[in-house]
Amino acid sequence: MCGIIGYIGKQPAGPILMSGLRRLEYRGYDSSGIALVSKGGLKVHKAQGKLAQLEKLLPKRLAGTLGIGHTRWATHGEPSDANAHPHCDETGRIAVIHNGIIENAPQLRARLESDGHTFLSETDTEVLAHLIAASGEEALEQRVREALLAVQGTYGIAVVDRDQPDRLVVARNGSPVILGIGEREMFVASDVSALVRHTRQVVHLDDREIAVLEMGGFRTLTLDDQPTDKQPLTISAGQEQYEKDGFDHYLLKEIHAQPEACERTLRGRIDRQFNTAHLGGLDLPPRELLDIRRIKILGCGSAYYAGMVGANMIETLTRVPCDAEPAAEFRYRNPVIEKDVLYMAVSQSGETFDTLAAAQEVQRKGGRVLGVVNAVGSTIARQCDGGIYVHAGPEVSVASTKTFTCSLLAFALFGLHLGRIRDVSPGEGRRLCDALLALPEQIRQVLDQSDAIQQIAVEHLAHNHSAFYIGRAGCYPIALEGAQKMKEISYVHAEAYPASELKHGPLALVSPETPTVALIPHDDLLEKSLSSVEEIRARRGPVIAVTHAGDTRITERADAVIEVPKTESVLDPVLLSIPLQLLAYHAAVALGRDVDQPRNLAKSVTVE
Ligand code: AGP
Repeated sequence: MCGIIGYIGKQPAGPILMSGLRRLEYRGYDSSGIALVSKGGLKVHKAQGKLAQLEKLLPKRLAGTLGIGHTRWATHGEPSDANAHPHCDETGRIAVIHNGIIENAPQLRARLESDGHTFLSETDTEVLAHLIAASGEEALEQRVREALLAVQGTYGIAVVDRDQPDRLVVARNGSPVILGIGEREMFVASDVSALVRHTRQVVHLDDREIAVLEMGGFRTLTLDDQPTDKQPLTISAGQEQYEKDGFDHYLLKEIHAQPEACERTLRGRIDRQFNTAHLGGLDLPPRELLDIRRIKILGCGSAYYAGMVGANMIETLTRVPCDAEPAAEFRYRNPVIEKDVLYMAVSQSGETFDTLAAAQEVQRKGGRVLGVVNAVGSTIARQCDGGIYVHAGPEVSVASTKTFTCSLLAFALFGLHLGRIRDVSPGEGRRLCDALLALPEQIRQVLDQSDAIQQIAVEHLAHNHSAFYIGRAGCYPIALEGAQKMKEISYVHAEAYPASELKHGPLALVSPETPTVALIPHDDLLEKSLSSVEEIRARRGPVIAVTHAGDTRITERADAVIEVPKTESVLDPVLLSIPLQLLAYHAAVALGRDVDQPRNLAKSVTVE
């Protein structure tokens, strides 16, 4: 959500900022802009729309070896040239880019206006530029510090001052800011994806921290003006992981990367001696795990749906009651935190504001939170009391796919680990280990059906206004996730229901124009799922069955059938989810949608 990039060094900053923005565009694409400081002063270029709009209006030569760049996901003020970042003060001395929300911006703006300041945009960010320029302090970092003391809200900011061209000042409170350390050059970004082509040495700023970046290095201080000591971290993801690798879209690449991604999630974690899972990052000895009476999983969007599937897996395997809840709802209902409840926060980016805030709320009340996080070193990963890295690798497309699947595996591993401490027998443990290890190859088999699934997507889904997705038990959240994928990338309206709920209302909308994607694993509920299919057929609703091979009753009744390999029932949702990703992808392509950057969305939602 809003991409931030900054550079100070000896190279021309313009191309570095633009290539960084290309990497960060998935974080927001309502507008973009850059500010460069050179002998000629401070120059700002910005434009509404995607980065291509900014590229069109940039001069051939961009002077300056110090600069900042921003790609915006609009919060305050509609997408427009005027609301695009960077924002400056009236004298054009200070330029600011910002990710987050300044909550007391209206009050600050009113005060500044009564002091004679004139504003050019509707954004909360412009207030910061004015406050910094109006500060009585000399050094830019002190100006920024003074301004931030007046501010309430969240921010990741980068600031340049025309009159102090030897430094770039950045600060963080609630929105990610990562420094990249080069050879006599420094970078800053809201996401490591923009740094990997320049350096592997990074430093994550903490909340209420300011950093001063100079050519030769950096120093950090708190908002209370106390110096802090930061240790650089070496990141492992290489630049190649951010390329499309010959695929038409990042989304397709990420869907096809799932076998290898799942192998990474499992690597080194299957303990064959005891037929259990080895999860080094949990930091929870078996004795403490035995004390757990309940588990609550928190996340947003697809991560929440992954949590719902995870809850089902964990409860099935451990007989410990487990459920999932949207992180923001949990946080605002003044939740009761109990000592013997384990909380888990699930997030791809590790930066989702609501999930982070929910984890902090649990910890504030004395609870323990484990993270199930993809982005190594991210804020949620650092905030949690231990956890499981998902290791899906960088996910660039806005719609989550491989991280969703790998998160399911992480939950299954946790369920196996806890289950083997409690009720799961060695034989059952062995079967689960075998099944987990077989999943990557089984996912490959599903991906091999991409052409057939494309045909089904085009024929049965892309050209309808609405579709239903149904499933039961662990497959209900898979239906939710399938419908979410369809909505977010193809804009075809899709609603998910537990199959048993259809007859309680939604059936009224079933018609020949409203297809239903029905998840029908061969499990204890097979007969019940077949009854739901009959109910839909009786209303002449088309049915696309996603199921296992071998039951002619399904092939005879459904208009289209996608078969996935059978695994242990508890793991069925993993394989059943893959065709739903492909259905959404192919429908979106058939409709000419912007698959990787769907309208109104951004990859990482770092505001409330
Ligand atoms: C799903 O395709 C979306 N990208 C979205 O729902 C996402 O899962 C949600 O915003 C949570 O993000 P996180 O996993 O980075 O916390």
